[in-house]
Amino acid sequence: MCGIIGYIGARPAGALLFKGLKRLEYRGYDSAGVATLDGGKLEIRKDAGKISELDEKLHFESMAGSMGIAHTRWATHGGVTRENAHPHADCSGAIAIVHNGIIENFQELKAELAAKGHSFKSETDSEVIAHLIEDNYKGDLEKAAFEAAKRLRGSFAVLAVSAKEPGKIVCFKRESPLLVGLGNGEMFAASDATPIVEYTRRVVFLEDGEAAALTKDSAKFYSLDDWKPLEKKASTVEWSAEDAGKNGYSHFMLKEIFEQPQALKAVIAQDEKNLAAFAEELKKAKRVIAVACGTARHSAVIGKHMLDRVAGKDIEVLIASEFEYFADRVEPGTIVLAVSQSGETADVLDGLRRSKAKGARIMSIVNVKGSSIDRLSERSLYLNCGPEIAVASTKAFMAQCAVFYLLAHAMAGKLEKAEGDLRLLSGLVQQELDAANGKMKEIGEELAKKQNAYYLGRGVNYAIALEGALKLKEISYVHAEGMPAGELKHGTLALIEKGTPVFLLNPEDYTYYESLSNGIETRARGAKLFGLSNKENKAYDEWIRLPETIDALLYPFLSIVPLQLIAYYAAVARGNDPDKPRNLAKSVTVK
Ligand code: M6R
Repeated sequence: MCGIIGYIGARPAGALLFKGLKRLEYRGYDSAGVATLDGGKLEIRKDAGKISELDEKLHFESMAGSMGIAHTRWATHGGVTRENAHPHADCSGAIAIVHNGIIENFQELKAELAAKGHSFKSETDSEVIAHLIEDNYKGDLEKAAFEAAKRLRGSFAVLAVSAKEPGKIVCFKRESPLLVGLGNGEMFAASDATPIVEYTRRVVFLEDGEAAALTKDSAKFYSLDDWKPLEKKASTVEWSAEDAGKNGYSHFMLKEIFEQPQALKAVIAQDEKNLAAFAEELKKAKRVIAVACGTARHSAVIGKHMLDRVAGKDIEVLIASEFEYFADRVEPGTIVLAVSQSGETADVLDGLRRSKAKGARIMSIVNVKGSSIDRLSERSLYLNCGPEIAVASTKAFMAQCAVFYLLAHAMAGKLEKAEGDLRLLSGLVQQELDAANGKMKEIGEELAKKQNAYYLGRGVNYAIALEGALKLKEISYVHAEGMPAGELKHGTLALIEKGTPVFLLNPEDYTYYESLSNGIETRARGAKLFGLSNKENKAYDEWIRLPETIDALLYPFLSIVPLQLIAYYAAVARGNDPDKPRNLAKSVTVK
């Protein structure tokens, strides 16, 4: 879960790569580095720390040359140190590489190369790639990269340059994402389109087992199996550089929370034929298993309730990293439905590949068109919500729930109702954002002083309890647990004491009275009870008012908004950067 970028053209590479790293920082941000080539001279600057802080001491912009590669790291193998930061060089200092992924057989490769006299400077798995290329280098970087790639097991997206062949970047990949950006007299390679979209929107996605060789005027594609040339089609990125900026908000997360009314409208713009075919296939499937991680899984739990209540279709929802223990036993007639913002989550991809091999049909709900999950899927529905940069997912969650809402209604032949509901909902979410922001800031600041918080809900609201708790813990580091309200008495109630914050998801729907009783039980043990409801109740210490709506299944959309804001303001009050929580990365491309 690192970000990589390469550039070859006429612009000053140091400045361009530094800017690109800032755009990719959401993929990992514990260390960073840049290598540029100026004629036959390779220069590497790198260190541990956040990219902007590093630039203050390393001055990436001042690096000479108009080609180079760069990396922002989320540590997997080896601590967060300068030595472990990328780019990594070979023994001679002529070859440099950046890598995203995990080389599973790095220990045996390292021992083999060390026995041949290679000396290693880092504890990383990635450094073996530079030495393997060096070991195979006989005057042709492409050939050497091809030979090196044959020896690698695991996941990788690699960019390699050599001072002996200035004017060329070699790229190759398996499992980790990589695309090539096609410019005029300049070429790019990157983990995703965010760092290059301001220069070009024409991109080619590399598939597993593919490679590319870039010069400033050409991009040639090859199969990693035999280095035979490949014909590849370019796609156009549909969003612009402005979409990937903060637009005056203090953080991406806040901007993305405020983009949710728009996101709801954008979801409606589905390709109707595709949606109808998707709905029909789900209806007919013998078995449907939704697989996802984190927030995306919470949206799938909501989807399960929606499909059940609106279309009478029962689906299973599994955490992707647990699905792998069942994936090899799925049978034809099963649809595995991936839900993912990035479309690159390794645990999801693993289960998809394995169940596809067993004859399952793969369908997905994704945000990033052309992502690995999208490409693996026979049919996809898109969130259409633009790039989501903050690590904490907000607008993508809203959009995922909205896609499920459309889907459930399309399956029941009531698509028009759903479209109308979502338009109405967009206005209600806007009202909430306008009215609730100040109060949620106060609650967030109060929560920042606490150690623990609990989120309770029943039925469809249980998923919001999970999501509210995840938002709080991942960015504020306040421990939070989301659970079914009915489960409380089976253990967790023991943890409630005077002043413990409890958020009760309590809209006036089919769960109202039972949830209310559970909330009252926590209050009787001293909890401070925050009731999220459209209806006031004296049992609440604080009433977080939800707008009235026309369909009970719309309440989850309305209840998550205040919880997102509370988490955001709690993080800010604790002095954390909500966009880049410690130890996490946006796109989890390793298992
Ligand atoms: O890109 P994906 O939707 O597949 O990502 C899944 C999770 O990693 C993601 O939702 C994660 O839980 C977020 N940080 C939550 O805010």
